[in-house]
Amino acid sequence: MHNLFNHIKKYIKIILFSILSVFFVSSSNAELTVEDIIKSRQALFSKNYSTAKRVQAFSSKGDFEKAKKLMIEMSENYKVLIDLFPENTQEGFDTEALLTIWDEKDDFNALMQKASDDMIKLTSVIEDAEDIRGTLKQFMWSNCKACHSRYREEH
Ligand code: HEC
Repeated sequence: MHNLFNHIKKYIKIILFSILSVFFVSSSNAELTVEDIIKSRQALFSKNYSTAKRVQAFSSKGDFEKAKKLMIEMSENYKVLIDLFPENTQEGFDTEALLTIWDEKDDFNALMQKASDDMIKLTSVIEDAEDIRGTLKQFMWSNCKACHSRYREEH
């Protein structure tokens, strides 16, 4: 009898511990989420900006292998960015995101996807391009501007 009691006690402890763990993990996530998401999308945009400048530098020098690697990196980052604009991140933490993003979510996502796809297209056209600057503008820089002019606050 005593043995059975100990056994049950052990299971109750395990169950309690599991419930507490789940509760702790999910509540600490919930506390961090909004700020985390906004900060990480801003960090990713900044990173893409510095990567874009390196893409420009490598392409201008004719170092296409290095440039292409970075293009793919940017393309992947855009795909991550699509998921960093959930409904609960419309304001706060110095976000420059405009509310129109959530009114026109499909259009916004389509622009992000296009920016991602264009970076892949860029990897296949850059080497044979006659006008490197013009090609980078067409497939890379113009997408920044198209999106910012509609969905990012003046800064
Ligand atoms: C499909 C939309 C979209 C595209 C494409 C896009 N951006 Fe942005 N960008 C945004 C939005 C929205 C913000 C504001 C994010 C926030 O503050 O929450 C932003 C913010 C930024 C920031 C500020 C980050 C910070 O630290 O606050 C930089 C820098 C930036 N973008 C650079 C670029 C560059 C360079 C490109 C192109 C190579 C680009 N973006 C492409 C939508 C876009």
